Amino acid sequence: MPETSKSNQRSASASQSLWGTANIPGDKSISHRALILGSLAIGETKVADLLESSDVMNTAQAMRAFGSIVKKNKDKTWSIFGVGVGGYCEPDKVIDCGNSGTAIRLIMGAMSTSPITATFTGDHSLIKRPMGRVLEPLKLFGTKSLSRENGLLPLTISGSRMPIGVKYFSQISSAQVKSAILLGALNSIGDTTYQEPELSRDHTEKMLSAFGADISIENNEMGSSVVLRGPSELVAQNIFVPGDPSSAAFPICAALMVPKSKITIPNVCQNPTRNGLIVTLKEMGANIEIANLRNINGELVGDLSVSSSNLKGVEVPPERVVSMIDEYPILAAVASVAEGTTVMKGLKELRVKESDRLSAMAQGLTANGIKVSEGEDSLSVIGRGLEEVPGGAKVRTFFDHRIAMSFLCLGLASKNPITIDDSRSIDTSFPTFFKVMSGLGAEIR
Ligand code: S3P
Repeated sequence: MPETSKSNQRSASASQSLWGTANIPGDKSISHRALILGSLAIGETKVADLLESSDVMNTAQAMRAFGSIVKKNKDKTWSIFGVGVGGYCEPDKVIDCGNSGTAIRLIMGAMSTSPITATFTGDHSLIKRPMGRVLEPLKLFGTKSLSRENGLLPLTISGSRMPIGVKYFSQISSAQVKSAILLGALNSIGDTTYQEPELSRDHTEKMLSAFGADISIENNEMGSSVVLRGPSELVAQNIFVPGDPSSAAFPICAALMVPKSKITIPNVCQNPTRNGLIVTLKEMGANIEIANLRNINGELVGDLSVSSSNLKGVEVPPERVVSMIDEYPILAAVASVAEGTTVMKGLKELRVKESDRLSAMAQGLTANGIKVSEGEDSLSVIGRGLEEVPGGAKVRTFFDHRIAMSFLCLGLASKNPITIDDSRSIDTSFPTFFKVMSGLGAEIR
């Protein structure tokens, strides 16, 4: 864990009301994919509203190491001059993906079928996260890897020299695993089929199709499957990155929790594979309206208005995990101001995110006077109702951005301030968080 000091702490205290417009930066998942697909395309890919967070900047740096030109233009768009599928050159330095599981897993997939070798590492959190879930299926292409025990970083990958399409049925629904395989499939001969129990976020499929890959998708009672016919030639595109729904989740939930609030959030990605939080919040009684639904680059985008609401506890079914995987920390915070108990099930994957999010939320909520029950893969939060959360404690965030932002939002609606031990992780996904929140009237110091 990086050294933390008092100057990195932040405290959020009861705020009068949140009011105004929150402009949310570009979606993190789409930003990573725009850089990676741009680097594999022929020509100049132009990206508007790329998320300029540390996670995404690590991907940009990695794409340069594999031979692409990635630069920011005067008009704030980004240009990527790709090397073409199969055109990656061998990096002469270790690829450090920092805190980002998406960056490392997708990039390993993208280089896994090129005849080059690369060594990868990450920060104190990433080096504890499982990479075997990607290394195992990539072996089917003939890719070789050498890692620490149990597939942990640092690790080295030697890409396959004769990659042939593969079939992989994944036990977990994971967009990172799916994307790694599809990116590997681009430089393989013949069909690659990937199947997962439930459709995980499908930005890679949508973007691959826009870049000209031969890709087809089928959702049936067996789950969701994608077939990509390689080798592919990708053609550079213009991409507009919509606002990140996982970042929008924080002002949305803060406005629901702080009495007399009313905010609008324009341009938020409304892809159905990402909208589990909105579905759940509406079941809890949230006042959320979505207007101007439109299609931009194959992604659904909408403008949200949110106002404070009296929420009730609900049971969140395990089938919803995949469409709200990153939103459980903020949902757990919101559940503490609801009337009644919220039960969240099927949360095994939360234990292997940037931190063990299940345990981090349980610890932080308990410290702030909320009764919770933490199971192996479930969390129940006993809500106390609006304006009844005691707060007053300092929370360990384990350098996890979503834990940090969730507790700051809860502090805005608590009787006593909530302090987080370290706010620096927020820069990995939402560098303008403090500016956006203070613009709405949030008391964060
Ligand atoms: C992501 C997929 C999800 C999510 C992560 C971003 C992506 O991970 O938690 O923050 O961009 O593909 P899994 O695929 O491991 O569920």
